[in-house]
Amino acid sequence: MSAEEIISKIAEEVSVCTNCALHESRKKSVPGEGPANAEIMFIGEGPGFHENEQGRPFVGAAGKFLDQLLAQAGVTRADVFIGNVVKCRPPGNRDPLPEELAACDIHLEAQIKAINPSIIVTLGRFSMNKFIPGAKISAIHGQMRRVGDRFVIPMFHPAAALHQAALKPAILADFAKLPNQLKEARAALGKNDVVDKKKEEAVQPAEKLKQLSLF
Ligand code: URA
Repeated sequence: MSAEEIISKIAEEVSVCTNCALHESRKKSVPGEGPANAEIMFIGEGPGFHENEQGRPFVGAAGKFLDQLLAQAGVTRADVFIGNVVKCRPPGNRDPLPEELAACDIHLEAQIKAINPSIIVTLGRFSMNKFIPGAKISAIHGQMRRVGDRFVIPMFHPAAALHQAALKPAILADFAKLPNQLKEARAALGKNDVVDKKKEEAVQPAEKLKQLSLF
């Protein structure tokens, strides 16, 4: 199965998942979205009201802010995979419970394995704690560190930065560092060849024909 097929299959499984009680109150599950070969994966907390309605991640106010932050880093949603540690909305936007995080982890792990991103950006403490247990976000935000086969960058949750104005400069500065951190991660993982291949694939068919006709 291709990575794309695996990602679609996980989304199907998530839509009928009953591994925890969150399925009882969900309207739509939110498996996450983005290319199956994304180099960067953003992992938030869980769906809120709007995400539960639409079945898509980060479509409310925090999502609009995330779009701005991505634009500032020179990337769009089409370039990255965006998911969450829990795929169904905790009622009233409460924090996800340990048993919900544990039950949903099988889906997130399967997504990470299929996508194999160079960088995982964690948004908020629940996502950060999966990779860096016990860490303090205020101490380590924006700092990239190697975790196994990839790099993890903990960042503040965009919703937190929206509600606490004091966090906004920090999250802006952290996102601004992302392009250079991606270069660093690629070099350390020996993935520069992957980038060249992607660039080649991105050449439009007409342009490819033109290139061929030069010979
Ligand atoms: N907050 C999250 O953590 N995830 C979403 O998908 C939306 C808001």
